[in-house]
Amino acid sequence: MGRPFIFPGRTIVVTGGANGIGYALAERFLAEGAARVVIADLDGERAEAAAAGLGGSARGCALDVTDPAAVAGVIDAVEREGPIDLWCSNAGVGTGGGLGSADEWDVTWRLHVQAHVHVARLLIPRMVERGSGHLLVTASAAGLVTNIDSAPYSVTKHGAVALAEWLAIRHGDEGVDVSCLCPLGVNTAMTADDGPDAATRLGGDYLEPADVAESVVAALTEGRFLILPQPQAAVMEQRRASDRDRWLSGMRRARARLRSGS
Ligand SMILES: NC(=O)c1ccc[n+]([C@@H]2O[C@H](COP(=O)([O-])OP(=O)(O)OC[C@H]3O[C@@H](n4cnc5c(N)ncnc54)[C@H](O)[C@@H]3O)[C@@H](O)[C@H]2O)c1
Repeated sequence: MGRPFIFPGRTIVVTGGANGIGYALAERFLAEGAARVVIADLDGERAEAAAAGLGGSARGCALDVTDPAAVAGVIDAVEREGPIDLWCSNAGVGTGGGLGSADEWDVTWRLHVQAHVHVARLLIPRMVERGSGHLLVTASAAGLVTNIDSAPYSVTKHGAVALAEWLAIRHGDEGVDVSCLCPLGVNTAMTADDGPDAATRLGGDYLEPADVAESVVAALTEGRFLILPQPQAAVMEQRRASDRDRWLSGMRRARARLRSGS
């Protein structure tokens, strides 16, 4: 277990926080007593509007998390007023059906893996120096099992989980805690067009973003690494680990069921 994260008085940045899960995290962190919450999003106008809607100490800014210079700029700007206690690396895209195009591999790799590396490279040394800090990586249950609709999404989310584990192992004894959020389906813009045959439906009913935020607060307060808003994701992962061939057959059958609509 890591150290419990105490919300009151803390400074928190949420990337991809203008919408969906990130917005719900920002809202919940403020309700938990965070002193400053910064919503950083590719859509800067929406980030500012979201922060204005939340009120209090919320601030919004434009940020492309795939641009390391821009990430450094936001870290410096926020830390001019005090250290960042928790960085939620949450921005993501649900792109890349099937095997995906070269562009889809490029964007998912840069957003779901390298963006977390930029933050780790820039912020973890500062956290180590201070002897405290927390990084939350939003991966997905697709990074624990797989999402049979999209190879780029699944593979890069596996990369996000692997990176979060690596960071937790390397920096846990230096005062830096890492958590990894792996939801199944959540009702956001990303899943708004999911039809009845969307692979995400295999995980059961979709949660609301506020339910995910509830799980995140509970896990961070307990100092847990893996955050599974839907506990059945753990069962799915255990099935995969215990008999890989049986799990692959089961996934092929599940895909056939989805395609036939039965
Ligand atoms: N919705 C789901 O079912 C689900 C399930 C598991 C994991 N996730 C993950 O949760 C995270 C949030 O997704 P969501 O469902 O809230 O989607 P969403 O589309 O509602 O929000 C994603 C946000 O990320 C922002 N963004 C995209 N590219 C960016 C960039 N380069 N820099 C900064 N911001 C950028 C978007 O502007 C948007 O505000 C993603 O990492 C996603 O992969 C979602």
